Amino acid sequence: NNTFSTLFVGQNLIRLSAVDSTNNFLKMMVSKSEPLPEGTVIMADNQFAGRGQQENTWYSEPGLNLTFSIFLKPVFLPINKQFMLNIAVSNGINKALGRFVKDGITVKWPNDIYYNDSKIGGVLIENSLSGNSFKSSIVGIGMNVNQQKFDIEKTKVATSLYEILQHDVNLIELLAEICSHIESQYLQLKGGNYNRLMKEYLENLYRFNKLGFYRQNGEVFEATITRITEAGQLVLLSSGKERVYNFKEVEFL
Ligand code: BTN
Repeated sequence: NNTFSTLFVGQNLIRLSAVDSTNNFLKMMVSKSEPLPEGTVIMADNQFAGRGQQENTWYSEPGLNLTFSIFLKPVFLPINKQFMLNIAVSNGINKALGRFVKDGITVKWPNDIYYNDSKIGGVLIENSLSGNSFKSSIVGIGMNVNQQKFDIEKTKVATSLYEILQHDVNLIELLAEICSHIESQYLQLKGGNYNRLMKEYLENLYRFNKLGFYRQNGEVFEATITRITEAGQLVLLSSGKERVYNFKEVEFL
């Protein structure tokens, strides 16, 4: 009973006034015996113990932003193509934001959402695998929407849609837009259109083919991002040499 024009993503929408983490809540629902419909979305007005990547916390001011998680069952996806799910989700968010912001939205590898050089959203995907195949996936998304003040210390460089547009955005409208674009990217994924997904990802990739500074174990170097491997590794070209990195192995400066 909502107005999302999707096939399944967001059709079962559960809105909580407060929860520790929508990812945790969804994980708990999945573990209950009753099968949960694919595409179920849990959103929270106040997520008071949000989790980010690398054991970080995700802080979001109550009532102003989107914090939600989507339940997916990418059972069709080979394990070695896991990163393609991250790509599909990033592409979907990017396209949805494109409806509100004309220029400057990119995805910073692996899946941070950026506006120019500031972070506007983050994604935490938690997969559940059994043997060599996918069972399910919890896609957690945090977007800074109507927040106007940021604690610089806590968030380094953060921004919100409000800071960009100078007006509020309706949270449910934005959620519907994101769900609809993630669904269509997910259907591409299901259809095995990996090349197209990767092509779109690279088109929106922060610093793709641009010179920038990076740091690895204290060594600072200048490089350009030339490609992302199928497994999701970052490939940098520096002084004519390729360097390949897994997540967390290199820092963007
Ligand atoms: C990151 O950039 O480090 C990822 C942040 C992901 C935050 C979202 S908010 C909804 C969902 N529930 C969580 O606890 N985390 C994700």
